Amino acid sequence: MINPLRGMKDLAFDDAKKFNYFLDVASNVAKNYGYSYLETPILEDTALFKRSVGESSDIVNKEMYQFIDKGGNDVCMRPEGTAGVVRFFISNKLDRQPAKYKLYYHGPMFRYERPQKGRFREFHQFGCESFGEASVYEDYTIIELISTIFKKLNIGYTLEINSLGCKECMPAYRDTLVSFLDAKKENLCEDCNRRILTNPIRVLDCKNPNCKEQLADAPKITTSLCESCDRDFEKLKSLLELNGIDYTVNSNLVRGLDYYNKTAFEFVSSEIGAQSAIAGGGRYDRLVEFLDGKPTPAIGFAIGIERVMDLIEVPKQESSGYYFGAMEESAIDTIVKIAKDKKQDSRVYVEFVAKKLKAHLKGADKIDARFCAVIGEDELKSGTIWVKDLVTKEENSIKIEDFLKQ
Ligand code: HAM
Repeated sequence: MINPLRGMKDLAFDDAKKFNYFLDVASNVAKNYGYSYLETPILEDTALFKRSVGESSDIVNKEMYQFIDKGGNDVCMRPEGTAGVVRFFISNKLDRQPAKYKLYYHGPMFRYERPQKGRFREFHQFGCESFGEASVYEDYTIIELISTIFKKLNIGYTLEINSLGCKECMPAYRDTLVSFLDAKKENLCEDCNRRILTNPIRVLDCKNPNCKEQLADAPKITTSLCESCDRDFEKLKSLLELNGIDYTVNSNLVRGLDYYNKTAFEFVSSEIGAQSAIAGGGRYDRLVEFLDGKPTPAIGFAIGIERVMDLIEVPKQESSGYYFGAMEESAIDTIVKIAKDKKQDSRVYVEFVAKKLKAHLKGADKIDARFCAVIGEDELKSGTIWVKDLVTKEENSIKIEDFLKQ
């Protein structure tokens, strides 16, 4: 027997219902906020992720599904969605337009991680990316958008925010941090030691309890921000307060991807175990330029769909559509023909085995049909169909031509 690969799974039945319900709700909110749908390829040039997500990140370093294709190209199955959207933005010369662009997407992402609860090798993200808007009001709005999605889905969360500064204030902070880390080097793990050289702020995110202890009194980026970053961060906090969105500042929140500057945030759930981040994002004002586009401010986020699915209840759907059955072999052709008409605009199930009425009523109930429509000997003779409304319990024999007009 061949099973799905480790860390990958099929999506069917109730889970598929939940998945599609999530996508409906999230897509509608994104559209209300002015976003339009974009689909980019799953396979991209490996260089795209190396230059955006960053060579020092775990994603690029350890987790890429990367291979050489039959044409000798170095390609990679996308580990996240932002890089492809930015590549689309630049490939289509949208960076040369004065307009602002808001794009949303969803689809599978691939990371060769160690699978555990809430962590898969193939998982799905729903994301939004906004280009051309430098105002901190956009940072607030994107957080508001996510909180609207979670509110509609009845999902509880805590929101953590941070500012990672900009090219003016980050370098000086990085130097201060490196001096602090150098002094503690011997007591930090191997990963931290590697990161001191490649991307020191990522050290702040180390999950090793011993490193966490060593880093308790590390200098904080939020006390080293330049005037403009500080002003924006204060404004973001006041906008969240003004609009009743609770948050905590986590100055160790640095995110696992290298492209962020200024605002970074994560939505966390306390109900799904260790892999608790249900959404993450932030500003990436320099990424378009890093990928050879014209400098364009940008901000976005992605929600991990598998993780929120554990928190969603799909509202019970009202019964709908028709169940068709025959009580005589000779009536089966007729119900198949009638069902064909009804299928044009209703949900329809057809039972191909002739059965007693009671069995058909049971079948209709099982598939949550609104109507049970049956033809037996009498109906065949009179050119009618017997229809029961399973909600109002009303039942009638109707001329077939009238039934088809209903
Ligand atoms: P990320 O934080 O790497 O950000 O991923 C976003 C979300 O995807 C996480 O919060 C989590 O819910 C989910 N996720 C990540 N890895 C896995 C996994 N192995 N299994 C299941 N779920 C997972 C990004 O990917 C950025 N592109 C977000 C962004 C968009 N930033 C700006 N724009």
